[in-house]
Amino acid sequence: MGYQDVYSNWQDDPERFWMRAAETIDWTKPPTRALDDSAAPFYRWFADGAANTCWNAVDRHVEGGRGEQAAILYDSPVTKTQRTITYRELQIQVARLAGALASRGIVKGDRLILYMPMVPEALVAMLACARLGAIHSVVFGGFAANELAVRIDDAKPKAILSASCGIEPGRIVAYKPLLDEAIALASHPPEFCVILQRPEQAADLVTGRDEDWQVFQHQTPPAVCVPVGGNDPLYILYTSGTTGQPKGVVRPSGGHMVALSWSMRHLYGVEPGDVYWAASDVGWVVGHSYICYGPLLAGCTTVLYEGKPVGTPDAGAFWRVISEHRVKTLFTAPTAFRAIKRQDPNGDHVGRYDLSSLESLFLAGERADPDTLVWAEQKLGVPVIDHWWQTETGWAIAGNPVGVELLPVKHGSAGVPMPGYHVQVLDEGGVPLPAGTLGAIAIELPLPPGTLTTLWRADQRFEDGYLTTFKGYYETGDAGIIDDDGYLSIMARTDDVINVAGHRLSTGAMEEVLAAHPDVAECAVIGVRDALKGQLPLGLLCLNAGCDRPHADIVVEAIQLVRLNIGPVAAFKLAVVVDRLPKTRSGKILRGTMAKIADSEPYKLPATIDDPTILDEIAAALKTTGLSG
Ligand code: COA
Ligand code: AMP
Repeated sequence: MGYQDVYSNWQDDPERFWMRAAETIDWTKPPTRALDDSAAPFYRWFADGAANTCWNAVDRHVEGGRGEQAAILYDSPVTKTQRTITYRELQIQVARLAGALASRGIVKGDRLILYMPMVPEALVAMLACARLGAIHSVVFGGFAANELAVRIDDAKPKAILSASCGIEPGRIVAYKPLLDEAIALASHPPEFCVILQRPEQAADLVTGRDEDWQVFQHQTPPAVCVPVGGNDPLYILYTSGTTGQPKGVVRPSGGHMVALSWSMRHLYGVEPGDVYWAASDVGWVVGHSYICYGPLLAGCTTVLYEGKPVGTPDAGAFWRVISEHRVKTLFTAPTAFRAIKRQDPNGDHVGRYDLSSLESLFLAGERADPDTLVWAEQKLGVPVIDHWWQTETGWAIAGNPVGVELLPVKHGSAGVPMPGYHVQVLDEGGVPLPAGTLGAIAIELPLPPGTLTTLWRADQRFEDGYLTTFKGYYETGDAGIIDDDGYLSIMARTDDVINVAGHRLSTGAMEEVLAAHPDVAECAVIGVRDALKGQLPLGLLCLNAGCDRPHADIVVEAIQLVRLNIGPVAAFKLAVVVDRLPKTRSGKILRGTMAKIADSEPYKLPATIDDPTILDEIAAALKTTGLSG
């Protein structure tokens, strides 16, 4: 059966398609139907079924004879350690941590925040929550205390699981002081914290609140898996929106298992026992779906890599991992390949390793530029597949389903829609546009299993943010084109979200931070093109009248402010002082026009611009920043 048949099977009878896909899951109570649309536009999948994600990701593989197979291959060039954890060992570790959490009163539906580096304990913690039916929310380690505090106050966790430190090349990131500061800032502090002490740098524990990871689990009985309803949340993952308040994407348990299992086999083409490596971070959706849950649900071995594509120690790092662990499928962001290509343009490192195990490379997180894609194809000699998805969807909206049929690869396109997704390109009025025309990309409701059910305790924000612009559709926030063969090309965001090194960031959040600087009267942050990271944020600052402090000082302070409030991950290193910002007559700042000027792209003078001469001033100011794009 080819792609067209599979897609038509879904179109002809979605209910049958997903019920059949659900057969790959061990249910304690099998669902009687796939879709429940009784509360539309809040759709629920497998809602009358019950199952446990940890059981499906771990225990059933032990029962099924995979106990001695590696579940996790931890490879950490930054600490010079490697560790293999079998499915049996993983089961023991997860049951023990879950038991300790249960003995401290954690029950189904409770929230826990996980603020962890890329260590196996991060996956153990996620699975331990899943085992109890508790809802985890992983916060990426590169976020500052303030961002963590915002998430604590939204999720109101009973406990936080963290580690003493993370390790970035050349520096140790002390997590514990950030955690302490976040808890001090938060209005809803957790009841307790469990801290993994790493040998690279131990942390001081707060008596009465913090528990040592090992001591915490001493002599507590292991926990069994708690069945949860198909629509019960497995996790909340915060992602950037247009404002400083992140959006808590709610992932349902049942549909998530079904969709990820389907994708492992049909999209990525892997089988139980295969080694699958997503070189991302547990703090992002890719880490949730394809470092933790997807490969484990599929009975694969997942690689957990604590390192970078370059500098740990060199541009051959990825090839070493592939050859040492016999990786079959690699998934990463194009920026990682741009970093490798920049340091090793001829691919000399590639020839030093045996890459015969590698069958395909998947790229996502940002647009895969054809140059990088062709370089990867030529150097690796395997299909390089761009695929498109979002935190909200949890798995690919479009791609090239190599497990079904490898379709012709079109450079610059993110492939064809996956079953479950009826993708349309719409004009401003919500009318579908003909093939080859650029427009807003929307997905007809209902979204398939595994996608977000709502935003955490913010149903109205979910409706307003995604379901209102185009009636009957989910608005993706991306603009693009569908060609005559049904291939999608994703061109840009339609909102103020930017994509820096495959990380999704809100320019609005950065503007909120900059506006708090005492000398800043008004500001704008735009995404400018960058040859390595795809985009970089750039701040334009208008100062208060009468401010005569040196501009260079204010720029340094502004950069520091964003790093302290949002975190190093924002990569906010470019700012410039300007006299005025270009606006429409109604007062809307023309960010898009400024971004085009920064990227030296042609732009139309907006008809509603208040004073066009400002654009020349902006162009002159931008020149002083030495943009690298
Ligand atoms: N904890 C603390 N700090 C972190 C961090 C973490 N988990 N992850 C990143 N940071 C810091 C970095 O140290 C860097 O700090 P600096 O300003 O002091 O140098 C900053 O955040 C920006 O990080 P990053 O954007 O990752 O840039 P980089 O220069 O360190 O590395 C790449 C560039 C391209 C090598 C890197 O971005 C990469 O590997 N990207 C892959 C993208 C990816 O995994 N995307 C996920 C979706 S698939
Ligand atoms: P995130 O939620 O962090 O995964 O970011 C999702 C956003 O990243 C999407 O809405 C797109 O803007 C962008 N994105 C992800 N994958 C691709 C891709 N393959 N091509 C172009 N943009 C992508």
